[in-house]
Amino acid sequence: MIGNTNTLELLVLLILVIFGIAEIVAGRLQQTKRTFSDWLQEAGGFAVLMGVIKPLIFLAVLGLGNLIVPDWHNRFSQTSFWILFPVFLLVDDVFQYGYHRLAHEHDFFWRLHRPHHQAEEMGFFVSYRNAGLYYVLMPNIWWTGIMTFLGGGLAVTVGLILKQLVIIGSHSTVKWDKPLYTIPFLSPIMTVVERIIVTPAFHYAHHGKSKRDGISDPNGNYGNMFSIWDQLFNTAVFTRKFPTDLGLINDPKEHWSATYFYPLVKSDNPESELSGGYKKVSTSVFEPAAVEVKKGEKYLWCRCGKSKNQPFCDGSHHGTKYKPLLFEAKKDGVIKLCNCKLTNTAPYCDNSHRKPAS
Ligand code: FES
Repeated sequence: MIGNTNTLELLVLLILVIFGIAEIVAGRLQQTKRTFSDWLQEAGGFAVLMGVIKPLIFLAVLGLGNLIVPDWHNRFSQTSFWILFPVFLLVDDVFQYGYHRLAHEHDFFWRLHRPHHQAEEMGFFVSYRNAGLYYVLMPNIWWTGIMTFLGGGLAVTVGLILKQLVIIGSHSTVKWDKPLYTIPFLSPIMTVVERIIVTPAFHYAHHGKSKRDGISDPNGNYGNMFSIWDQLFNTAVFTRKFPTDLGLINDPKEHWSATYFYPLVKSDNPESELSGGYKKVSTSVFEPAAVEVKKGEKYLWCRCGKSKNQPFCDGSHHGTKYKPLLFEAKKDGVIKLCNCKLTNTAPYCDNSHRKPAS
């Protein structure tokens, strides 16, 4: 079982090396503005995941499995690869879709996943940039161990290699899909491809800073290998453009020790979500906000009621189920935007704040 993980780690490393070389050949890596801290979080995160967290999870599954259900060890070793392979891959990917979405909609899990979205540029290593605890709790790593315990080692190895190709490819600056969109006869084929697997364009939209660019949706496109879950659960946004403004709107930078070891290590910056006493508080007020807008400009109205820049979104909705509302000003002038968040005509005030609570 551990032998399988070693083979897997070496193959994943090989994929990283291939994408790393491709980024160097394309001249992208030479232009990187990554700091030492960024490299440490990405390369260090990969090393600890592969060298410590995954082997320990595999050992834990092996130990618990042999203790609780010893008869199930290698139970499916004679089952056809063509049954085990799709079962492993689909269950693995739907687990990861759910976990990734939870990490955007639940405050504690968002703090573990936030370092991934602090990356202001993409790259082959970015997918490994999360807090260590994020990986320890990741259900599909446990699922990988369980399938291996049950005798599906080959399905796991092949499945994860394909999955890492898609995931590392969707984070890489190589953007393998971009030239294919420009070839007319490939365009319908790419329509099918992007509705099955996660392409770089699909995933870059998830890393864009704000919907205001007309490309990004940081609260959509949660898929990892397959985009089918986003389509099934209504979180898919298809685009063939690539956002240039990546990262978080509101990002007090933290020391890498806090981003990796949270909640064991906390940030000493009180503005940081990773600091000890940090709390998102309601900033919505009774009266609407009169704001000056320009015709044709796009604005993001805060729906969660926690922005420090009311009535506009400042990214504080991350870690909640709320998403900001994008709207375009129809004319120049002053408009009244809802600040109580009770309006039925969002983002505009409809005087709901005057109605007695029912
Ligand atoms: S801060 Fe973005 S919706 Fe409230």
